[in-house]
Amino acid sequence: MTATIIDGKAFAATVRKKVASHVATLKQGHGITPGLAVVLVGEDPASQVYVRSKGKMTVEVGMNSYEHRLDADTSEADLLALIERLNADTDVHGILVQLPLPGHLNEDLVINAIDPAKDVDGFHISNVGLLGTGQKSMVPCTPLGCLMMLRDHHGSLSGMDAVVIGRSNIVGKPMAQLLLGDSCTVTIAHSRTKDLPGVARRADIVIAAVGRPEMVPGDWIKPGATVIDVGINRIEAPERGTNEDGSVKTRLVGDVAFDSCAEVAGAITPVPGGVGPMTIACLLANTVTACCRAHD
Ligand code: GUN
Repeated sequence: MTATIIDGKAFAATVRKKVASHVATLKQGHGITPGLAVVLVGEDPASQVYVRSKGKMTVEVGMNSYEHRLDADTSEADLLALIERLNADTDVHGILVQLPLPGHLNEDLVINAIDPAKDVDGFHISNVGLLGTGQKSMVPCTPLGCLMMLRDHHGSLSGMDAVVIGRSNIVGKPMAQLLLGDSCTVTIAHSRTKDLPGVARRADIVIAAVGRPEMVPGDWIKPGATVIDVGINRIEAPERGTNEDGSVKTRLVGDVAFDSCAEVAGAITPVPGGVGPMTIACLLANTVTACCRAHD
């Protein structure tokens, strides 16, 4: 293996430390405690894990965590009423509605009901517009975490060729906007892209955000390129044996075939321990930012 491993876990710990020190200053100097409200509708197991982890880290950096768990059959009107209450609550500086929502709820409607100033996910249409026009906004946490790791590793990204594989509103599109803001030449590739391997091979930076386990092999990567793996996929791992209930054990993999890419890349993020921890650290940082802007 030749690639440098970009240690997102360690980087995220330093970001959380800075957030904690900022929170302490807000508390001691101004009597303000930043607060993050997380809303979970239903019992999606992966979402439950994420929400628990977000709540724990929020408390660890000294902020208030407000968790709202609603039944899977909660009506849109009830969910919108909760968001209205959180919008009006001056103790709540950040609001996150965990996605995906159950099918009967309109995600766009729900997200756009959040006060844009409290939209720590950066998904509200006005934050999307502000980011797209290079104005001060709330920036989506996963792409922000990726950008921070890239800047830390490279310094300036100016003039670099970046290929973002995946065109989601949560990661692919905002990632492309951020890279453009840092003067990269950006390509957004997706399932209909012609010659995806050839497109990826031209890139100095490859961001994989497709949600398909180990889809990007090493021979798609230009020697020395930086590979950022946004994927978190759980796959069966028969080599690890079976659980007590007889089911096959699982393991987490990214969208990138780590071993083969690490042979060619200059730097690469691992899964787990890469982008994932940075996403939560950026959520906490966004909450402090929202709190400071509210008290400006
Ligand atoms: N589900 C998967 N990723 C995210 C995220 O970044 N924010 C929210 N709200 N839901 C998600």
